This record gives sequence, structure tokens and C-alpha cells, in this order.
Amino acid sequence: MAVSVSTPIEVTAAGLDSLETPWLAIPFHEDDVTASLAVLDEASGGALSRARASGEARGRLYEVTVLPVVRHDWRIGRLALVGAGPRASCDAAVLRRVATTAALAARQRRVTRAAFLLRGIRGASAAWAGDLDAGEAAQAVAEGLTLSDFTIGSYKTGDPDPTPLEQLQLSLPGAASAVLRAVEERRRRGRRLGECTNHARALANEPGNSLTPREMAARAAAIVDQPRLRLDIFDEKRIAELGMGLLLGVARGSHEPPRLIVMQYAPEGAVTGPELGLVGKGVTVDTGGISIKPAENMDRMKDDMAGGAAVICAMRAIAALGAPIRVVGVVPATENMPGGQATRPGDVLRSACGKTVEVLNTDAEGRLILGDALWYAQQLGATHLVDVATLTGAVVVALGKLTAGLFGAPQPWVDTVRAAADRAGDRVWPMPLVPEYREQLKSEIADFSNTGGRPAGSVTAALFLQEFVENRPWAHLDIAGTAWSEEARPYQPKGPTGAAVRTLAELAFGPAGEWPA
Ligand code: BES
Ligand code: MN
Ligand code: ZN
Repeated sequence: MAVSVSTPIEVTAAGLDSLETPWLAIPFHEDDVTASLAVLDEASGGALSRARASGEARGRLYEVTVLPVVRHDWRIGRLALVGAGPRASCDAAVLRRVATTAALAARQRRVTRAAFLLRGIRGASAAWAGDLDAGEAAQAVAEGLTLSDFTIGSYKTGDPDPTPLEQLQLSLPGAASAVLRAVEERRRRGRRLGECTNHARALANEPGNSLTPREMAARAAAIVDQPRLRLDIFDEKRIAELGMGLLLGVARGSHEPPRLIVMQYAPEGAVTGPELGLVGKGVTVDTGGISIKPAENMDRMKDDMAGGAAVICAMRAIAALGAPIRVVGVVPATENMPGGQATRPGDVLRSACGKTVEVLNTDAEGRLILGDALWYAQQLGATHLVDVATLTGAVVVALGKLTAGLFGAPQPWVDTVRAAADRAGDRVWPMPLVPEYREQLKSEIADFSNTGGRPAGSVTAALFLQEFVENRPWAHLDIAGTAWSEEARPYQPKGPTGAAVRTLAELAFGPAGEWPA
């Protein structure tokens, strides 16, 4: 099985008078002074200043204005001003989205080659200089450009729409060679991270009838085929031998057997030091089981494996880019179906760590399978844990669809994960693990139940997971709201977002020497 490769991105220091491209995208700020863009204004025969005077181009975020080039000695076909807001608030996160917007706009206009002017960075030639770090900006733009390379209509039989890009250029006119070297290195990283995000989006987009747990494991094998990365796929027999009663309890209702996808990455020589443990929910289809979901929107639950996809695809990025620490990834993959053998409300399951759970609602299945997977990641030696899951509707009520819930302890570890998410451009917001709410999980027959009722539903879900963490830093990302975009935006078409892939990868490159014990 081949893993697709995204459009190459070439860094060029060519001056605008020698750059050859049909489409040059330029971040355009609300407070840009026309003088700083004089060369572009002139090249467009004054169209730039007219567009600005008429209010057509105001520099509002992600607004696209296409201008002609009238200079016959230039080899640029069109200028695309892409709104980048006020100069001062244009950081890497904005730039990433500006870049995606620029590339998507090109694709929609059937342009197949595009260049992006990297402006506002330190070390650029005078006309294009600013305060942004060149490497950081280059990575963000490379990620953003690459993120344009995804379409939701993978089963459509007609021509691909919009047209894919064949060539991308990162343009730094007249930049010094030291800047170009920094940019080159981070461009590579950005493209890789963008590509891995797209792989996760493709997995999450895949319907349940094609992406069964077995198929998810097969796709994982192709994706993590990387040096220094070992993959083991456990079948239902091996899962039973490990005593994973929670994972088996969820899988019982389906004819499709579960799989446990286990990935271990070790850089050369790293035998001591922290080991990052990544755990992702891999429910390939969530009908709710016997506590069946209403028909409306049940189809959306094909992406209930987005957390697992994030872990698999982050592992690819981690190995491909050679992270300096050991990382283990564990993804429990199963369907949640209401078959005749299904677990029923009132049933009691025994987890691999020995704790017992009374299942009060079979639709709270994610926390069950994650309980066993968290235990296994620790068995493999993970010292620092992060799990990612489309876990609760409650987190969508609390934080909406643009921000994932971040839970965990101790605080310095949560802060570390939050900083990685900020660098990655994944929006997260801290949520409290109120210890008193654990009462809501009380069971009369077992150690605890799997549901805590409506109040603070995302918090009690996180408290349930915490029961399976033995005395080490752990963080939990609830991406139920952010994994899928219900609305099309200029930088994010409707569909899977690849949430958390880049956060997890960034984390593996962070200063692990400073991690809390
Ligand atoms: N996969 C769902 C959570 C979900 C809901 C994801 C909406 C994306 C959008 C999860 O398995 C689930 O069903 N959670 C229940 C838990 C409840 C039964 C305690 C929920 O949130 O309703
Ligand atoms: Mn569910
Ligand atoms: Zn679910």
C-alpha cells in the first residue's frame, strides 16, 4: 500500500523580476502602507492601489484579491493578495492559514503552480523584512501550503476538483544565504508535518465500511513504515491474553475483530531519558452499541478514530524527522456495534490493570478502550503520557468546535502540551479535573462506572481515564469538537481537520530535558 506524497515546495531567492510563476500569493495587512508594496502596485499597473482604495482589498483575514501583472519583463502571471490582518498580530498561526488560503484559492482557479512570498521575517531583504523568525515562518507556511492538498471527495469518480497543485515555491526575494539555510531546514519539517496531517485527515474521512479495525491496522503499517520505528499489530487473541477486558467488551457487539496497533520509535543511542507515550482512540464506527445513538448524524461517527489517526500519523512524522527521544504509540481499534453478543448496560468488565468497570452506557466506549491502552503504554515504559480522543459531546458544549479540551496533571506537563499545541496551530483550552466530580462515577457493584451523567461530562470522562494512569505526567486532549469541520472556511474545507497530529509531533521535539518528572 503506497502512502501519497504531497506537492514539493522549492525555496527561491529569485528577485520578483526573475521569479517565474503563474500565481504569486502575498500576505496583505490591514495596515500595510502602499509605499511598501510600491513595486507590486507598479507591476499591477496601479490595480493594487485601486483595489485598496475601493475597499476591495482591505487586508481582512483570509480575503483573497487577484490582480493582473502588466509588466511585460516579469514572468509572474497574477498577484493574489491574501488578507493577513493587522501586521502586529500576524504570527505563525495566522501565516499558516494565510498560506492554506492562498493555495486553496489557486486550486479553485485551476492554477497548478503557485509561489508564496514570505514577507515580514527577520533577515529578509529590506522591502520584505519584519519581526517574524524566518525558520518558524517558513515552517508555518510550508505546513499551510501542504494542508491545501486534501479533498474530502475521495470516492467521487469524476475529475479531481479543485485541481491539485503540481509545484509550490517559497519566495524570499534577495534573501541572504544564512536565512535561506534556516528556511530550507524548516520548510522540510513543515511539509512533512502538513503531509502527516493530511494522512490523518484521509483516515478520518474514510467510511466505516472500508476502514474497519483490521484495515486501520493495515493502513497504519503503510504509514509508519519508517526507519527506527517498530510496529506490532495485536489480534483479538493477543488482546485477550493481555487481559484487555475493556477493549474486548466494546468489540463484542461487532463481527469485525478489534486490533491493538502498537508503535515504538527509538532514536539512535537513546536508551535512557523520558519516553513519550501517545494513545489515540480508534473507534472506526460508533453507533453507540446497545445504548444506540439517534439516527441523525450517526454517519459522522466514522471519524471516531481521529485520535488514533493523529497518533499513527504523528508517529510517522516523529520517525521521519528523527525526534531525539523514544516514543511509543498505542491505538486500540474497534467498532462499537449493537450485535447479539454486545456488552449491555449493567454488564461489568475487567480491565487489563485489574480494575473493574460497570458499563452503564455502552456509548461511553472511548474511555473504556483508552483505559486498557493507557495501561499498555505504561507497560511499554512510557514515562509521559498524552491521549487524544473524540471522547465527549460535552466538550463541544463547553468549548465549541474550534478548541479542543486539554486535561491532565501535573500542571507543568499540561503547560508543556499546551505550548506544543500553540506552536502547532492546534487550538486547545485547559479544563479542570475537579476531584470531587469523581463521585459521579461511583458504582455499587464495581470499582466505578463508565458514565458520570450530564454535568461536566467531559471532565468526568477525563477523570475516568485518570484512573488508568499510574503516577506519571498525563494529558488528555478531547478533540470531539475539533476533529471535523462542519463549516467550510477559507483555510479549512468542510471535513476532517487532522487535529492534534502536529501537536503530538511538536511535543516529541520539545525540550524533553525540561519535562516534569
Ligand atoms: N464518540 C462519542 C463522542 C462524540 C460526540 C464525538 C459528538 C464527536 C461528536 C463518544 O463515544 C460518546 O458517544 N460519548 C457520549 C458519552 C456519554 C454516553 C456519557 C456522549 O458524549 O454523549
Ligand atoms: Mn460513543
Ligand atoms: Zn465514541
